[in-house]
Formats: sequence, structure tokens, C-alpha cells
Amino acid sequence: MKNITVIGSGTMGSGIAHCFAQYGLTVSLVDLTQEALDNAR
Ligand SMILES: NC(=O)c1ccc[n+]([C@@H]2O[C@H](COP(=O)([O-])OP(=O)(O)OC[C@H]3O[C@@H](n4cnc5c(N)ncnc54)[C@H](O)[C@@H]3O)[C@@H](O)[C@H]2O)c1
Repeated sequence: MKNITVIGSGTMGSGIAHCFAQYGLTVSLVDLTQEALDNAR
């Protein structure tokens, strides 16, 4: 497992993405709004 996609980039999604990224996995985020993606980044 090296690539992760998280659908929904709010509180839960950004937190989950952060955890995976900390351990060096490549994470893609998907959301309906650009604002959520910007905040998650
Ligand atoms: N926050 C918590 O503590 C918590 C705890 C347990 C479970 N949950 C569950 O986790 C889920 C997310 O919660 P959250 O707090 O992160 O909510 P949130 O509102 O912070 O984030 C949800 C994100 O999902 C996006 N979204 C909605 N429909 C989408 C779609 N079809 N495709 C892509 N993106 C979409 C929204 O634009 C939003 O940015 C919910 O089902 C919630 O019940 C949350």
C-alpha cells in the first residue's frame, strides 16, 4: 500500500490524509469544493 485516496476533505478526511502523509504515503484528496481541498492542504 503506497497510494491513498481520501474522498471528503473535511475534518475527518484531512486528518486521515495527514496521518498517512506523515508516514510517507502518497495521498490524494477528493472533495466537492475547492475550499475544502485548500483547507486540507
Ligand atoms: N468529525 C468527527 O468527529 C466524526 C467522527 C466519526 C464519524 N464521522 C463521519 O465522518 C464523515 C465526515 O465527517 P467530517 O466531520 O469530516 O465532515 P466535514 O463536513 O468536515 O467534511 C465532509 C467533506 O466531504 C465533502 N463531500 C461531501 N459529499 C462529497 C462527495 N460526494 N464527494 C466528495 N466529497 C464530498 C464535503 O464537501 C466536506 O468537505 C461523516 O460521515 C461523519 O458522520 C465524523
